Amino acid sequence: MSTYVYMKILESAPLRYDAGIRLLSLGGVDAMYDEVAAAAVPGRGDPPARVLEIGCGTGNLTRALAARGARVTAIDQNPEMLDVARDKTDDLGDTVDLREMAAVEIDDRFEPASFDAVASTLALSEMSEDERRYVLRAVARLLVRGGRLVVADEVLPKSWAARAARAVARFPVAALTYALTQTSTSPIPDLSGLVRECGFTIVRDDHLARAGVGIVVATNGAATQP
Ligand SMILES: C[S@@+](CC[C@H](N)C(=O)[O-])C[C@H]1O[C@@H](n2cnc3c(N)ncnc32)[C@H](O)[C@@H]1O
Repeated sequence: MSTYVYMKILESAPLRYDAGIRLLSLGGVDAMYDEVAAAAVPGRGDPPARVLEIGCGTGNLTRALAARGARVTAIDQNPEMLDVARDKTDDLGDTVDLREMAAVEIDDRFEPASFDAVASTLALSEMSEDERRYVLRAVARLLVRGGRLVVADEVLPKSWAARAARAVARFPVAALTYALTQTSTSPIPDLSGLVRECGFTIVRDDHLARAGVGIVVATNGAATQP
């Protein structure tokens, strides 16, 4: 999964993003969307759960969340990725609300306590450390008390030896990515630590089946079952 640094290349060609990400993850990315959606929306509710998705890209998690009965507000700063997401969620009507927005704007654009859950896959790793912290603190305010945050993203291995091996293996791809897109991803060194620091209680801190991607489920109120 460290090859997810290719994501920046894929994002520069949004129509090829889905095919590319499936190939890179050997199909594992769909299981990630399903797992994140199930953690964010454990059961169908009436009224439906209100979910904010950050960095929705081409809308794969958006669809998975909607399939579980949620009303999804999905934001992304890349209009071309959103165009693909719009085509993909066209049939879902007003269940899905796609908005072009940078993640740092959420605090100004939404009322406090307006979501039951917030979910994000492979987007926080594209933000700076300061941006992640700012966004996660804003998320804590936007969630209802006891609301859920579910994040799956590229994480750094815990040991220094594994990190060094990873950096060496990743260098050629990172250099190519930078040459083509002038951007790179920054795997998150301590995802659960960051989430905790931003005011959440950790409910689950795990790795997904494919190495390099971590999942954190947290709540901004008393801890609940995963
Ligand atoms: C690698 S893609 C992941 C897309 C989707 N979540 C998925 O898992 O397939 C990262 C997405 O996050 C978006 N993104 C990155 N930083 C962002 C930010 N600060 N605000 C809003 N969107 C952002 C990018 O535009 C891109 O669409």
